[in-house]
Amino acid sequence: MTPRTFPPDFTFGVATSSFQIEGGVNEGGRGPSIWDTFCRTAGKVQGGDTGDVACDHFHRWPEDIALMKSLGVRAYRFSIAWPRIFPTGLEDTPNEAGLAFYDQLVDALLAAGIEPWVTLYHWDLPQALQDRGGWTWRGTVVAFAHFADAIGARLGGKVRHFITHNEPWCVAMLGYMNGEHAPGHKDWPEALAAAHHVLLSHGLAVPILRKYAPNAKVGITLNLVPGYPASPSVADADATRHFDGFFNRWYLDPVRGKGYPPDMVADYRALGRLPAEGPLPFLFPGDLEAIATPIDFLGINYYSRAILRSDKLPEAENAPRTIPEPGPEVRTDIGWEVYPDGLAVLLRRVAADLPGIPLVITENGASWATPPGDDGVVHDTGRLEYFRTHLAVCADAVAEGVPLTGYFAWSLMDNFEWAYGYAQRFGLVWVDFTTQQRVPKDSARFYADVMRTRAVPERG
Ligand code: FCB
Repeated sequence: MTPRTFPPDFTFGVATSSFQIEGGVNEGGRGPSIWDTFCRTAGKVQGGDTGDVACDHFHRWPEDIALMKSLGVRAYRFSIAWPRIFPTGLEDTPNEAGLAFYDQLVDALLAAGIEPWVTLYHWDLPQALQDRGGWTWRGTVVAFAHFADAIGARLGGKVRHFITHNEPWCVAMLGYMNGEHAPGHKDWPEALAAAHHVLLSHGLAVPILRKYAPNAKVGITLNLVPGYPASPSVADADATRHFDGFFNRWYLDPVRGKGYPPDMVADYRALGRLPAEGPLPFLFPGDLEAIATPIDFLGINYYSRAILRSDKLPEAENAPRTIPEPGPEVRTDIGWEVYPDGLAVLLRRVAADLPGIPLVITENGASWATPPGDDGVVHDTGRLEYFRTHLAVCADAVAEGVPLTGYFAWSLMDNFEWAYGYAQRFGLVWVDFTTQQRVPKDSARFYADVMRTRAVPERG
């Protein structure tokens, strides 16, 4: 069989985010973020871990760029810590030291032949904005537009790819609905307002970035999860519809100019998450038009699928579920099922939903804590196979005509995995958090070969 190959202009990269790798939280005039606060709230982050040091990338960035270069990485997706630029989010003038940090990072990346892909918001909101309501407060939208302006003004001349937001679903639902992420609230109306404000701030930021970087590509990254009904029953089909609306369509539809999905508005009204009738409380004239501002690409983060089991299965339909609960052998350390076919289904569906919009996998990866062996080498076969099978799906999709133009592995290196602290390791590179030593894993060598040859081998 001929190996699967990627076209010459396909972008291969690796991804990280500011809070997960930087450390240096009290340096360079950085203000506190909601994650600093959350880490200090008892019981919120496993092991009481914090982002105080993380991968110490704030000091070791030259070494990290050299590491990427040695692996043949040609594109690097990272995020800007908002509180390094505006320590409270409310200042008029940006903090020069913060801007200078990212400016020198971008220059060094370009000098190393690595294309910077800049995410504006990957969850580290200035705490002072949270004190005013965070994403539930419309003022945060204005503050974000101001932040986008400062980044555009400083980096717009040299950065050619911007992502406004990373995973609005996580920001809104984990942050304000189930409380698993900062700021740790559990309130549905707040969460829906937060989701809207994140989307609105995206829509306002797109033209601001384009003003400074007319040739740059600007997009948003959504975490999308294809839903599979556990059985052919009507109840499971409806649970799958609801899940898809909750997780995917609530974000995809307004971005593609369709507004909020009416079936979900009805569900949320019935469930008391939105007022029973009348306008949506957070929606003002012009908002949906702003959210629908055309984008140059859609970023997709894919990790796994969801299997939907309704608890309302009627007696008559109580047939055995045709998709059994996946066992531990197909799950990564974090519990997520390894399911590359879900990515195939998702890519085709999104390509059909957003015709003509280039798609980029902005994150994909797997958590296994496989440590270095006696030989000092990390034989992370599970992760290597995860990347191999998901990259094969991407190559097939491209061959079929899906406008997939890039793939970023999550993550360059092990890092602070949010509520799991340092317990979950997604890196291509092992990080010893005591010595800060970086050790490329087998999966890193595998991915380096894929990037170099633009081909996915049949076997790892
Ligand atoms: C995504 C996040 C990223 C990382 C991966 C595992 O939801 O964007 O920061 O935590 O999951």
